[in-house]
Amino acid sequence: MIVEVAKHAGFCFGVERALKMTEELSESKALVTLGPLIHNEQVVDKLEDKGVYAVKTVQEASGHAMIVRSHGAPKSVFLEAEKTGIDLVDATCPFVTKIHKIVQEQAAAGRQIIIVGDPKHPEIVGIKGWCDNNAIIIEDEIAAKGLTLNGPACIVVQTTFRNERFQRMIELIHSDGQDVLVFNTICSATTKRQDAAEELSKRSDCMIVVGGKKSSNTKKLLEICQKHCENSILIQTVEDLMMKSLTNCDKIGITAGASTPDWIINEIIHKINEGEGMVDGR
Ligand code: F3S
Repeated sequence: MIVEVAKHAGFCFGVERALKMTEELSESKALVTLGPLIHNEQVVDKLEDKGVYAVKTVQEASGHAMIVRSHGAPKSVFLEAEKTGIDLVDATCPFVTKIHKIVQEQAAAGRQIIIVGDPKHPEIVGIKGWCDNNAIIIEDEIAAKGLTLNGPACIVVQTTFRNERFQRMIELIHSDGQDVLVFNTICSATTKRQDAAEELSKRSDCMIVVGGKKSSNTKKLLEICQKHCENSILIQTVEDLMMKSLTNCDKIGITAGASTPDWIINEIIHKINEGEGMVDGR
């Protein structure tokens, strides 16, 4: 049995950066995070052990420094923290901050902002909050087809969105003769993880996708793997791994969402083959 980890898997730059900032600051400050820092229960539990808890509102952060996670937050959060004297530490991923700047500038220039992505996802809620919440959010091809632009517009996209789908949706929007600026703001970390998962799933008997069940990028990795490898499973930790699901698998591929630390991937590899025949593609 051979176990291979996809060439790009696990923590992305933005998540790693936010976690490092939080861990370092927790040594010197009473700290809370606005929402769970990442979509990973094990990491969140470890932070709680260090006294770092998630709060839901800026008011709840009173008496603590407050971390804005890599997904970012609406502008109103920054203004409220300033007004109420909360020490806000901005761990928004720089790629997401870039989107905030785009929508703020383009909305000020009079363009209708269109955001492609999941309207409930905190990243999208944050982006929308940088253009006075005056954005049209489209999640799928049906919404794209139903959209007619009647003036200058600016389109941005959730960093974890699938590129092919974004391109398809852009083509479906009715924008005849309108001045439309399209910013492909999909993060390369996501594309690299998705491409590597696709490549590995094509030559594996079983694909194990490791990540939070609520994490959108993990769910997308599973979707991609299932397309090419019927026997694809999503697990959060080594405890979820049923060894019997790997029976008759000679080649096992592993990929992991951007919120999955290496130590969780390593525990899974060790459970499967205790180090034998392991190939780490990264
Ligand atoms: Fe940032 Fe890309 Fe990760 S936008 S948070 S590096 S997936």
